[in-house]
Amino acid sequence: MDNVWSQYIQGCMTLYSSRKLRFDDRFRDRYLPLFGLEDRPLRILEVGCGPGALAEALGRWYPKAEITGLDRDRAFLDFAREHVPGAVFLEGDAAALPFPEGSFDAVISNTVQEHVEPGAFFGEQLRVLKPGGVCLVLSSRKGLHAAAPGLAGDEAERRFWEKVSAMDDSMEKYGICRYPMSEAELPAAMERFGFSRVSTGYAAADLTPDDPSVPPALAREMILSGRYNDLEALDAALRTLGDRLDRGEAEGVRRRIEEKYARRLAQYAAGDKQWETSVSLVMVLRGVKP
Ligand SMILES: C[S@@+](CC[C@H](N)C(=O)[O-])C[C@H]1O[C@@H](n2cnc3c(N)ncnc32)[C@H](O)[C@@H]1O
Repeated sequence: MDNVWSQYIQGCMTLYSSRKLRFDDRFRDRYLPLFGLEDRPLRILEVGCGPGALAEALGRWYPKAEITGLDRDRAFLDFAREHVPGAVFLEGDAAALPFPEGSFDAVISNTVQEHVEPGAFFGEQLRVLKPGGVCLVLSSRKGLHAAAPGLAGDEAERRFWEKVSAMDDSMEKYGICRYPMSEAELPAAMERFGFSRVSTGYAAADLTPDDPSVPPALAREMILSGRYNDLEALDAALRTLGDRLDRGEAEGVRRRIEEKYARRLAQYAAGDKQWETSVSLVMVLRGVKP
């Protein structure tokens, strides 16, 4: 359908890496009681699956389930098909799901609701659920982020990103985050759109690479997640703003990003602890089709 999100908003690795960390098996027992899904052969649809990290986690956590991911961004679907072999990924619109009524036992989404008109978002998921089926709407709420001092970015980087944010109108242009809802509005909307037994819960996904309980490969991924985000944001800015940005300045920023993450990885390898922490508070909204 398009590749707006992956080209101009968030790249494949930004989403895949951050969600792989957020839905790591270390947090499985925080999510599963909130999901409240039975351990039986379920048909699960993930709406707005992006590059597939949540679908991948669902495949590990519900090995008997048949998982379908749906998104309208082709680059995400290509990435997911290559990296997440256990699920099926389809192109489609969350506001007009390409499935008959009563097709799924559960539908799930992560950070998608705020981008889709609520009547269509909830209405379509209600329609494709079987009676008694479960709708799970996940969203990342305010978290806690303490950056490593060396990763904060220097004056030149800060100036560059200020210029980008002053010129970049992609969010408005592509209607991103057009339908935000508070923690109180979400369950009320779910009830209004026809779901019953609506509940909410929160799972904290805390990422601290220097924590001794974190295996080294995972700690490195936590550090590199920021690098993917910075580099893909730079590429998106260059695509969006083109000649309005000074190429030399942008390449200087790229060099700085590469250098600071290489330095942080070297510090990690040398046991030089920086204690950066990122805690995502994930809201899990749950409702049942009557
Ligand atoms: C913030 S991203 C989250 C992606 C994924 N759920 C994750 O957590 O990595 C929002 C996703 O919703 C998708 N999306 C937005 N509106 C959509 C629509 N109407 N139909 C299908 N996908 C949509 C975007 O393409 C993008 O992949």
